[in-house]
Amino acid sequence: LKKNLLPRTRKEIFETLIKGLQRLEYRGYDSAGVAIDGNNNEDKERFIKLVKKRGKVKALEEELYKQDDLDSKAEFETHFGIAHTRWATHGVPSAINSHPQRSDKRNEFVVIHNGIITNYKDLRKFLESKGYEFESETDTETIPKLIKYMYDNRESEDTSFSALVERVIQQLEGAFALVFKSIHYPGEAVATRRGSPLLIGVRSKYKLSTEQIPVLYRTCKLINQITLFLRIKIINVKNICNSRMKRLDSSTCLHAVGDKAVEFFFASDASAIIEHTNRVIFLEDDDIAAVTDGKLSIHRLERSASDDPSRAIQTLQMELQQIMKGNFSAFMQKEIFEQPESVVNTMRGRVNFESSTVLLGGLKDHLKEIRRCRRLIIIGCGTSYHAAVATRQVLEELTELPVMVELASDFLDRNTPVFRDDVCFFISQSGETADTLMALRYCKERRALTVGITNTVGSSISRETDCGVHINAGPEIGVASTKAYTSQFVSLVMFGLMMSEDRISLQKRRQEIISGLKSLPEMIKEVLSLDEKIHDLALELYKQRSLLVMGRGYNYATCLEGALKIKEITYMHSEGILAGELKHGPLALIDKQMPVIMVIMKDPCFTKCQNALQQVTARQGRPIILCSKEDTESSKFAYKTIELPHTVDCLQGVLSVIPLQLLSFHLAVLRGYDVDFPRNLAKSVTVE
Ligand code: F6R
Repeated sequence: LKKNLLPRTRKEIFETLIKGLQRLEYRGYDSAGVAIDGNNNEDKERFIKLVKKRGKVKALEEELYKQDDLDSKAEFETHFGIAHTRWATHGVPSAINSHPQRSDKRNEFVVIHNGIITNYKDLRKFLESKGYEFESETDTETIPKLIKYMYDNRESEDTSFSALVERVIQQLEGAFALVFKSIHYPGEAVATRRGSPLLIGVRSKYKLSTEQIPVLYRTCKLINQITLFLRIKIINVKNICNSRMKRLDSSTCLHAVGDKAVEFFFASDASAIIEHTNRVIFLEDDDIAAVTDGKLSIHRLERSASDDPSRAIQTLQMELQQIMKGNFSAFMQKEIFEQPESVVNTMRGRVNFESSTVLLGGLKDHLKEIRRCRRLIIIGCGTSYHAAVATRQVLEELTELPVMVELASDFLDRNTPVFRDDVCFFISQSGETADTLMALRYCKERRALTVGITNTVGSSISRETDCGVHINAGPEIGVASTKAYTSQFVSLVMFGLMMSEDRISLQKRRQEIISGLKSLPEMIKEVLSLDEKIHDLALELYKQRSLLVMGRGYNYATCLEGALKIKEITYMHSEGILAGELKHGPLALIDKQMPVIMVIMKDPCFTKCQNALQQVTARQGRPIILCSKEDTESSKFAYKTIELPHTVDCLQGVLSVIPLQLLSFHLAVLRGYDVDFPRNLAKSVTVE
């Protein structure tokens, strides 16, 4: 949305929106849609043109150019367009279910939404009783209908767009990031969030320094003026009947950007806007941001008097190049090959190899408290959970504390007891995973100290935790997580090292691990050089229906993570099996046909792994063994071996997971699947 910049043609506006969607496509890609102004400024009657399409953004782009009028040279002084790529939660992927959703056939209000509205059934029932007709199966459609209802029943002609949005979100339960557009408020944008991420990119025509642009967006002082909203008496319509609305006085809002030559970009993720600007404001829950007459204002929906009303413009370090594929065929492949650098970036400025010390700046002020705690609880989902499994043993050893490792969803399902002397870690690449975020809020309510380990600056988890570590792996676009895993792994090990700095009895061990960290990048390069060999292995395996991955001890997490990678992008059945459990059931699966990958490293579990190997070969299984270079014993029984450089036991998992990342990539390509867009999955799971 812009003001006083050179006019833009309709085509340019599309291109900006479509490019933004393409950059976000990894987060959801079953359908896409766009809404822009139908007429330019001079035309009296405005209308909103809505184009939606099932499938990837490419399909939407093709559709747009089929529509002649959209390719016109119409110019706009000020324009606000919205676009969305969807990952279905309610309703099948289809044009009608995709966003923007609309209030009515005239498209008076259109809305894009990330998240889930949990009370949508009640809202829908209420709106239907008022005569509104629904066309989609989505929860989102209740929102444009509700705002139209608010508009049709507004108290005064002067009611602002943001005041209407405030009223709408007072009625919503669940999680949302929303952006609204309306023919009644031409050129105006309103956006808000609760639980789902939303940021605003600010691009100025002039190169203003941070000092020149006031850094703080002071939110308005709220007027606690309570007005009776509606006097409708309908039973069952939760939150709507007789609800008391709190109104904001927008005149008290301060505008920080006084310059009018500004373009604003609302996005759920910085990668959508980074080519336009690296200056962003991260919105907080219940912020309502409005652009009117080219100026941005941010209000709070009043909830708590202790809310901090300031919003800083942050300068992101992200480079456009980081979110492009370069010479690789897929983001996943690029990210696998970035690991020698990404682990260095995780350690940079934190591990001092000369003095054998580790300093995690984000934790140092809380170290005393952490050392005194009752136990550590590490919580995450999917790959992030596996990073916790991978490091649990070394953390127990270095911290000498009990360490619980929890899947966020299960942790919540069990109402796990949490106490104020617990320290709870939340591991999340995106920093937005709904289950992990809810587990964080659960632990905060119980007054535990919360620590975030995330890869996304400004994400909800990094903002809501008491302290934390940014893993600095760089943007991860491939839906299958790879470099984030190894960086999470290294971050947790660094935490263990920092905790044990004063323990005399642990110094030798610490020294060994720190040396291991130092040589890790070179060793990762060595593992990556096995790519061709792994490709050949994939050629043998890609027609199989199933693939077992077995190991124990430090490498059990590698099996879980390897199996997850295989299933999510190759759609083969794959299972990570703890070798210690083999005799308790999984052994029945072993025969001549079943491919089994065994991870056998020179560590304290080596002999036990040899036993498992014997059990597999005794059943005529043909194990493919990931082992150390110097291991001559295992290779005697192997159908195939992949030999890895040997490192300290607790870091071996960083190396042993990489062949499985590569294998899953090659299997998926050979099976003809789109590696970066696995079916039914999205990068950031912001719904329960
Ligand atoms: C698998 C994968 C997922 C995520 C999980 C948690 O490759 O990417 O299992 O690890 O959805 O996501 P974050 O780490 O963003 O919380």
